[in-house]
Amino acid sequence: MEDSSMYHPSEEIKNEANVKEYEKLYKYSIENREKFWEEQAEELEWFKKWDKVLDDNNKPFYKWFVGAKTNIIHNAIDRHLKTATRNKLAVIWEGENGDLRTFSYHALDREVSKMANVLKSMGVKKGDIVTIYMPQIPEQIFAMLACAKIGAAHSVVYGGFSAEALLERIRDAQSRVVVTADGGFRRGKPTPLKSIINEAIEMCSVVDVVITVKRTGEEVFMRNDRDYWYHDLVNLPIASPKCETEVMNSDDMLFLLYTSGSTGKPKGLVHTHGGYSVYTSTTHRMVFDVKPYDRWWCAADPGWITGHSYIVYAPLINGSTMFMYEGAPNHPYPDRWWKMVEKYGITILYTSPTAVRGLMRYGESWVNRHDISSLRLLGSVGEPINPEAWKWYYRVVGKEKCPIMDTWWQTETGGLMLTPLPITPLKPGSATRPFFGNEFAVVDENAQEVKSGEKGSLVIKNPWPGMAVTIHNDEDRFVETYWKKYEKQGWYHPGDAARKDEDGYYWIIGRTDDVIKVSGYRLGTAEIESALVSFDDIAEAAAIALPHELKGNAIHVYAILKAGLSGSRELEVKVKNHVAEVMGPIAKPESVTFVDKLPKTRSGKIMRRVLKARALGEDEGDLSTLEE
Ligand code: WTA
Repeated sequence: MEDSSMYHPSEEIKNEANVKEYEKLYKYSIENREKFWEEQAEELEWFKKWDKVLDDNNKPFYKWFVGAKTNIIHNAIDRHLKTATRNKLAVIWEGENGDLRTFSYHALDREVSKMANVLKSMGVKKGDIVTIYMPQIPEQIFAMLACAKIGAAHSVVYGGFSAEALLERIRDAQSRVVVTADGGFRRGKPTPLKSIINEAIEMCSVVDVVITVKRTGEEVFMRNDRDYWYHDLVNLPIASPKCETEVMNSDDMLFLLYTSGSTGKPKGLVHTHGGYSVYTSTTHRMVFDVKPYDRWWCAADPGWITGHSYIVYAPLINGSTMFMYEGAPNHPYPDRWWKMVEKYGITILYTSPTAVRGLMRYGESWVNRHDISSLRLLGSVGEPINPEAWKWYYRVVGKEKCPIMDTWWQTETGGLMLTPLPITPLKPGSATRPFFGNEFAVVDENAQEVKSGEKGSLVIKNPWPGMAVTIHNDEDRFVETYWKKYEKQGWYHPGDAARKDEDGYYWIIGRTDDVIKVSGYRLGTAEIESALVSFDDIAEAAAIALPHELKGNAIHVYAILKAGLSGSRELEVKVKNHVAEVMGPIAKPESVTFVDKLPKTRSGKIMRRVLKARALGEDEGDLSTLEE
């Protein structure tokens, strides 16, 4: 899989880069970690500066910029209103149906303030958690920013998740207020959201208020003691376009974002105002080299961490113009993305390997019919990018002049961690080297570094300002999941396998736990399996990931039926649809195999690695603990 060829950046790129030298600054950032981060924090405005950069007295609950007063909105919006950035475009949005909406920083401030006042009028206070379940429309961003402005935390639930997944997240966050839309557009069709919210909240008593933005105009059910149309509220005198930005502590919660782990229910990772502001804006400035003239497009969904950090917060803090698109990349034709790159003069594109592979499938003529020469930098995130897709992206999209920033990171890390800079010589498929301040290693079970080229567990040896501070309502699980394995060393354990080559470049292999990355989306086998056994006919089930050409990984299911039942093609289809209904379409299994037995350990744990090895025709490894 590894490709030893190096791709060197041009002199022009090196001369223009925001960071012109890696080694020296890296060394400095490691030897003076707190000083390095303090210098980055100085780039932002604070209501009150910190007494201490890092408090590590209560590991692993690190605190950054202790004693500082801030609000991410002050840096993302308010401070820009005092400069020429006020009149610069903050957001360019295109709907799938061709709708176009743009907002300057001045206009963004007004929209966010109006939404903030609406939320306040519904009783939302500092410290509350508001759930946001929306399509990719500007109001999705306004809702997030409005929460932050008034000191409430947001919990954005990806619009592709089902009622049950949504319910679980609303319950855990105890959200009294939900912001949603009637629906969004995907491949020319309206997708429902409000009806899914209705279904979810019928099953719980937590939600008092649902605010619905009109997007599709489809008929939706509104209950008059609970449901409000946003366009009604925003026209009332309460929705003034002026709103004070709440003063927050650096370590106050900015948002909660649920993500899948190895076991059990999704974890609500908590990110804060101070450290997260510094980390996301610094990485965006240094890695994506943003300049005032750039038009930045992070083609993720704001419902995932990539969207939180690099659609919403980092670009706004850096005063960039960002582009956002509502719908499918191939609608109405496979050149939709390239058409928009040309139309809006996009200069930096950050997307996932799955998206690249998907567009690659249609062939390069779709790209070549547009002038996309405005692009100067590309990015990749979410899963390992196979060298073939990397090379296509580099040659066809980047015209062999745009470096590709393959960034490795996680919901937990807040921002990118392993990454090249525009000046870094690239190897297709490698996320290259650690970002400033970070020390990585590839180690074995005993915390010993493995030899270069050998596979091991990736670890991070230090704290960084973007790190999640805990799991909402579950501190023990935070410690258990990320810090227990290398407790003695005090290392963070991300759950990825990797290799480090002779040049110190890191190659991510994939997850070592029961997390599955399907098209870059993060799902847990435990959630999929619990969806499976909620199907009447199924007694027991196991889900595994197998390689898939387009999606990176696909979900394959092995199920034992209840006594007396036998499998059929029809039942297989039913099971697939059931999982999609319970969890959302992204979790739909690729295949369902009905079996009589599942390989288990004597203590009753399903041995998914055995299933996987069998499916791939590989060596099943050590079977001494197998029950049969
Ligand atoms: C995987 C997404 C290889 C990895 C930002 C990680 C990657 C998980 C890369 C986190 C990359 C992310 N190369 N693998 N450039 N980026 N991953 O929380 O397995 O949705 O642990 O965050 O995605 O997924 P999450």
